[in-house]
Amino acid sequence: MTAVGIDAVEIWTGNLKLDLPGTFAPQKGEDPEKYTKGLGLHSSSFPDSYEDIVTMGANAAHRLMERKGLEPDDIGRIDVATESAFDNSKPVSTYVAGCLEQVFDGDFHHANKGERKFACIAGTQSLDDAYNWIKAGRNRGRGALVIATDTALYARGDAGEATQGAGAVAMYISEDPDLVELSGEQGYGSADETDFLKPNQQFPSVDGKRSVQVYLARMREALEDFKSVTEPLHPDDFAYVPFHTPFPGMVRKAALLGYRNMVRDTSIEDELADEIGRQPRSEAFDDEEAYRDAVREYMDALKETDRYQEWYDATIDPTLTVSRNVGNWYTGSVHVARVSALKHALEEGHDVAGKRLLVGSYGSGAQAEIHAETVQDGWKEEIEALNVDEQLEERYDLDWEDYEEIHDAHNHEMDVDVEELTTPEAEFVFDGWGRMGERK
Ligand code: HMG
Repeated sequence: MTAVGIDAVEIWTGNLKLDLPGTFAPQKGEDPEKYTKGLGLHSSSFPDSYEDIVTMGANAAHRLMERKGLEPDDIGRIDVATESAFDNSKPVSTYVAGCLEQVFDGDFHHANKGERKFACIAGTQSLDDAYNWIKAGRNRGRGALVIATDTALYARGDAGEATQGAGAVAMYISEDPDLVELSGEQGYGSADETDFLKPNQQFPSVDGKRSVQVYLARMREALEDFKSVTEPLHPDDFAYVPFHTPFPGMVRKAALLGYRNMVRDTSIEDELADEIGRQPRSEAFDDEEAYRDAVREYMDALKETDRYQEWYDATIDPTLTVSRNVGNWYTGSVHVARVSALKHALEEGHDVAGKRLLVGSYGSGAQAEIHAETVQDGWKEEIEALNVDEQLEERYDLDWEDYEEIHDAHNHEMDVDVEELTTPEAEFVFDGWGRMGERK
């Protein structure tokens, strides 16, 4: 059977940078380590006044198409995943296609375009749609362009403000992919939740503490569901485990939960039993509270074991390197985590061809998906071609006044014009509603 998966990926960051320990923490009167150690964030990407979801998405897609030698005729489907859309009718993919048609020969007149929404998980849902479209044989030899693009901004003063970010990830999904093969099995955890939502509003209403618990609950359900359709899982089966990363501290919690779930009833649990006991079983407790305390105690002990620490350092920490410096990119976040992991493999000289990834996607509202991927032979060339480090390095470092102004400029309820802080170079720029994406 033909392999279907991600053939190529490109990343486009917002051109500005907000330094969390250096600029944000002093203004908030907080200890910088709350951000660097607690949330695990050093800086976030922010959009300049000429950037938005269309320009960032089109810039990422343009780089990808140019590098892979793709023409519009090679693309039968364009899906944009975003939760920052500004048009309730016309999908963002049409705006992006309009940008790309300015620079490529040909057009996307015979491509199926759409927009996917389910908070941050929509990027992964778009991958699933593209996979199904190709597997169903409806693609006529063409591939799908999936673009996850967001300006993840919170209201000033919201607890989520520290976790903001802005950027896009473009992926080309095709037969015989160079980067990773997607698998046919997924596990889902899904429930109607109201801890993070934006009903007719730009910035989210968030119950931050609850959102952390909802993320963990849905992720646990997705893992259980995934286990019901696959071979028994073993943590050492996966080279990396990229999770949706609103901030790295969230992934620290998700990783521990995932590990505990995977080692249950395995030889690892037996091996750890002398050191930390066996996992508490709910049936052994009459009292729910006592069971929860016992689980908490077990998790605290598990986290301190060398075995868990080694697994975390090898499998999870490398997925967080980019995220630490860009913040939450919502739909793009888990796809940034995959890139971060493969970049680490490249830098460390690990050959991960044939190795598997376990990918944990999540979107508020709320749904988690777990699926596995297999790294393909062409992965090294694909990751070598990325210029993520240069992009991050070149961002303009905002001082507090700049930040306040640019945040206001992106606030749809304020009528504020600000000077560009950076000069666009060979990229699409925002040029007013309905006239977006002129390339400068
Ligand atoms: P907060 O009140 O600013 O922070 O809110 P905190 O007081 O909870 O501290 C955060 C961590 O830093 C804690 O660690 C502290 O102990 C630690 P934890 O106990 O959780 O392990 N800390 C320190 N560590 C070292 N030195 C210090 C120090 N001080 C504190 N001095 C909150 C945090 C996450 C609530 C906030 O950032 C927020 O509301 N964020 C937005 C919502 C969010 O990101 N939720 C995540 C799950 S939902 C999700 O991922 C979906 C999402 O991406 C949206 C979508 O799907 O579309 C958000």
